[in-house]
Amino acid sequence: MATEEHQRLANIVKSCHENLRHLTKTLGAEAAWQEHTSPKNAKKLNEYAQAMRELSQVWETNENNLELQARSRIKWTLDYITKYFYTEGIYMQKRQREQRLLDSYEKELEVKDTWSCSYREEPPDRLRVLDVGSCFNPFRNSAHFEVTALDLCPATEDVLQADFLKVEVDKELKEMVIQDHNEQGKGKSVKKLPAGYYDCVIFSLLLEYMPSAEQRLSCCQKAYDLLRPEGILVIITPDSQHVGKNANLMKNWRYSLAKLGLLRVRFEKLPHITCMVYRKAISLSLAQHWASIHREEGWCEAIKIPQDEN
Ligand SMILES: C[S@@+](CC[C@H](N)C(=O)[O-])C[C@H]1O[C@@H](n2cnc3c(N)ncnc32)[C@H](O)[C@@H]1O
Repeated sequence: MATEEHQRLANIVKSCHENLRHLTKTLGAEAAWQEHTSPKNAKKLNEYAQAMRELSQVWETNENNLELQARSRIKWTLDYITKYFYTEGIYMQKRQREQRLLDSYEKELEVKDTWSCSYREEPPDRLRVLDVGSCFNPFRNSAHFEVTALDLCPATEDVLQADFLKVEVDKELKEMVIQDHNEQGKGKSVKKLPAGYYDCVIFSLLLEYMPSAEQRLSCCQKAYDLLRPEGILVIITPDSQHVGKNANLMKNWRYSLAKLGLLRVRFEKLPHITCMVYRKAISLSLAQHWASIHREEGWCEAIKIPQDEN
């Protein structure tokens, strides 16, 4: 793709984020989000979706450029999920570690709840994957995945429309509830999702799109509710700084997610992104106890990003 075209697409993406941040400053996060997601902004959201899809094709499919490949969030996510469930059986190692921690915390823990472990013998042949903020369904061709892809504004027809902040999570459901026509009069939208159903939830470049730390935390709580015990939440977040720059922020994320019951199992800094994996621990009180003993001064239960400071 010519550099000029690349720049034009990047500007569309950038200005959408800037507009939302500007709206947030004047209206507050809730009202800004309403405005941003209202049908009158549909044209802008569509433009963003198409730009994002085209840009990603350049980033992800450049087979001749090893550096670009090494930065690939899609490839990283696929590789880790495969190792976790299949080739390295990481879920089993993490279960044993949590079991040891649980035993060592025994005296301090007032309640010792444990889930029955989800992947007792073997992981399933097909993993139920929920890709939130999917845009163009980058995981659709993965052999082991049964993907549910959703987005505020889908770029392709195989992505369902939904604002994840508004989707209900229902303990009684066996499968998701979808509605045939979304507000723009096309495609399908998701109304409800079944709790404890997914092996994997993916937030690839999702959280920083939302304007408030509370909205981001609420997405993580939903991911927790949607996961099976021992299922994983993969978070990819943009970060072009060196690894130490946002280290305290990342530690605070780790703390906040542990309070929800999600323990970090992988952290890797690539040139322009940080890749993280959190696992739904075998016990909520274990994860919360871990959080309480590792808490540091100034941390709070929130998912803050560097842009919040500006
Ligand atoms: C930066 S793009 C990332 C797209 C894709 N996941 C990737 O890694 O290339 C962020 C996407 O998240 C979507 N999004 C943001 N907030 C959302 C929400 N609350 N519910 C559903 N989708 C959301 C946006 O519409 C946008 O398509």
